[in-house]
Amino acid sequence: MNIVEEIRALCQEKNAIIMAHYYQRPEIQDVADFVGDSLALAQVAAKTDADIIVMCGVHFMAETAKILCPNKKVLIPAPEAGCSLADSCKAADLAAWKVAHPNHMVVSYVNTSAAVKALTDVVVTSSNALKIVKQLPEDRPILFGPDQNLGGYINRMTGRSMELWNGGCHVHARFSEEALLALKEQYPTAKVLAHPECKQSILQHADVIGSTQALLDYAKQSNSSLERPISNSEASHLQYIVATESGILHEMQKSCPEVEFIAVPAEGGGCNECEYMRMCTLENLRDCLLNESNEIAVEETIAHDAIRPIQRMLEMS
Ligand code: 13P
Ligand code: SF4
Repeated sequence: MNIVEEIRALCQEKNAIIMAHYYQRPEIQDVADFVGDSLALAQVAAKTDADIIVMCGVHFMAETAKILCPNKKVLIPAPEAGCSLADSCKAADLAAWKVAHPNHMVVSYVNTSAAVKALTDVVVTSSNALKIVKQLPEDRPILFGPDQNLGGYINRMTGRSMELWNGGCHVHARFSEEALLALKEQYPTAKVLAHPECKQSILQHADVIGSTQALLDYAKQSNSSLERPISNSEASHLQYIVATESGILHEMQKSCPEVEFIAVPAEGGGCNECEYMRMCTLENLRDCLLNESNEIAVEETIAHDAIRPIQRMLEMS
């Protein structure tokens, strides 16, 4: 049996489901039962009847699944896989921010610890943040954290003036505007797809701004109109310059094989991969399933307070 067959056999034997984020290594996405963005991972976790959830993603994703499914075993193959964005907001600092703004509602991005979620009124992901903020009472001021770029994007789109936490994702912060402009010149008909965690200097050049799922859906939708082989000149219209973690290109390329996806490099030509997302491997996934190791636990009082804003998000999505 090869390692992929071993993993699938373990899933069968233990009634386990493997969930993977679009930023995971290609081989992890391919072995998973479900691949999705942060919102879809939470939605699927909330509904699964598997006994074990293996979350191939980063720590806050596994924690969110555990909060939604307290009676299930939630495992993470790479427990050291954190998130610079979630780390940019500590619960104690958020608590102090709330004390300084007693009339504000707190809207937190899903990329946060359970302790931060427990202090939050409503959680959002990049898929539903705009939709949810639009539903909040207009006369209620909002504290939004921790992603400053996503918050700024929502403020611009809604005309609201949410107070923004000064946090961000190190991967999305390092995309190079200069490299993006050079790619636009090289591929003049290509559309630019960007994640709202990118800086405004990148977002200002984007044709489409959305979560990983929204960017994928956009590419799939343009591709689905083609029911025949395409000529070279048509193909030249089907190029997308992608400004988000490059793991998403695997599913984009699988769903739209004739389309050319071009990843925007980081500043200085550097890497646009999230090292935390790449920590999960076939080997640690197999071992985690086999030994049922790296189980996620969330302290009961924190889980009790954190589930409300997550459920509110699922209801408002
Ligand atoms: P989405 O899955 O909501 O697109 O978010 C991306 C992300 O940064 C996950 O870490
Ligand atoms: Fe966190 Fe950024 Fe990695 Fe997403 S890409 S997990 S936001 S560090």
